[in-house]
Amino acid sequence: MACVALQNLSKFYDQIDAVKYINLEIDHNEFIVLVGPSGCGKSTTLRMIAGLEDPSEGDILIDDKWVNNVPSKDRNIAMVFQNYGLYPQKSVYDNIAFSLMLKKLPKAEIDRKVKEAADILGISDLLDRRPKQLSGGERQRVAMGRSIVRNPQVFLFDEPLSNLDAKMRTQMRTEIKKMHQRVETTIIFVTHDQVEAMTLADRIVVMNNGKIEQVGTPQELYDNPKTLFVAGFIGTPAMNFTTGKIVETNDVLSIQLGNQMSLALPKERYDRYQKYLGDTLTFGIRPEHVTEKRRHINATQVDFDATVQAVEPMGMDTLVYIDMDGIEMNARTEPKSVLGVGESMSFTINMSHMHLLDPKTELIV
Ligand SMILES: Nc1ncnc2c1ncn2[C@@H]1O[C@H](COP(=O)(O)OP(=O)(O)OP(=O)(O)O)[C@@H](O)[C@H]1O
Ligand SMILES: [Mg+2]
Repeated sequence: MACVALQNLSKFYDQIDAVKYINLEIDHNEFIVLVGPSGCGKSTTLRMIAGLEDPSEGDILIDDKWVNNVPSKDRNIAMVFQNYGLYPQKSVYDNIAFSLMLKKLPKAEIDRKVKEAADILGISDLLDRRPKQLSGGERQRVAMGRSIVRNPQVFLFDEPLSNLDAKMRTQMRTEIKKMHQRVETTIIFVTHDQVEAMTLADRIVVMNNGKIEQVGTPQELYDNPKTLFVAGFIGTPAMNFTTGKIVETNDVLSIQLGNQMSLALPKERYDRYQKYLGDTLTFGIRPEHVTEKRRHINATQVDFDATVQAVEPMGMDTLVYIDMDGIEMNARTEPKSVLGVGESMSFTINMSHMHLLDPKTELIV
């Protein structure tokens, strides 16, 4: 395991600035997930760390050593790609052993390492097969085995789960997490799937448009997003956004949504919001914080009535698309509480979880 530092790392192509001055410190044995929409620069960042792409600007340090000019093969990094790149003619055993054979390690040592890796990954009984005789998930494990035996300082994964079916994805996710616990190593994992990012990462790096939007633990990003992009990207279904004006009546600070609805803001945030009195801000609330009407457990809960527009049962809970006076929201409700489309239903909104954003800067205020 090793620590990795990216300092002002950038990649400029003729037509596009793929990565723009990113800074990131990755700790020993940390599981970092780079997440963001297609084209935001995740793979380019990973390829620069791997040494497959030269940075246009900036520095890459591995264990405090400057590696910009160190060839890929000497960086002691293993990269697992989306298409695992296994040798079709070789057995699983030989696929895993290949890099060790190239290094001309003694046969007995190769054997020990291959069997140890196969044991960690639960593929000991597949060693004689060829890749085409394996399922997608098994191939994935062979690709990981091939990396593990090299005992790299850093593992890089580029969307390794994206061509697996939903069930296999979840299974392999657990597999990779277990592997990380068993083989102490630093992992940098790229995905565009925020659920994958949330479940795997020690820390998530949210990228957008070649830049880092925010870095934090999954819970930090969920609870305290700093930008509109992160607020909308992390969490499913996505956070509801609407605009409203900050008003004050009888010393109560509220946000006025549409003509009808005035929601009192949490008292402990008055200091933060006072200066926006009279301004129009973006109001954000996650669907899970808008529920069917409930008995209040704290003073920041507010009730309102709205019309049911559409209903999506999820099993454990039901998503209800609601409309109150032109303001549309998505609520997450107890299935039994849901009324039919077109009916008016009472909801509770938990204002202690809401966010306000400046519509111009798109930053949380
Ligand atoms: N060799 C290249 N030449 C020119 N532009 C490139 C090259 N490689 C990538 N790009 C551009 O750089 C941007 C970032 O690409 P990158 O592959 O890093 O995105 P990504 O975040 O991995 O996306 P995805 O989720 O689709 O894999 C994209 O706009 C892409 O078109
Ligand atoms: Mg990519």
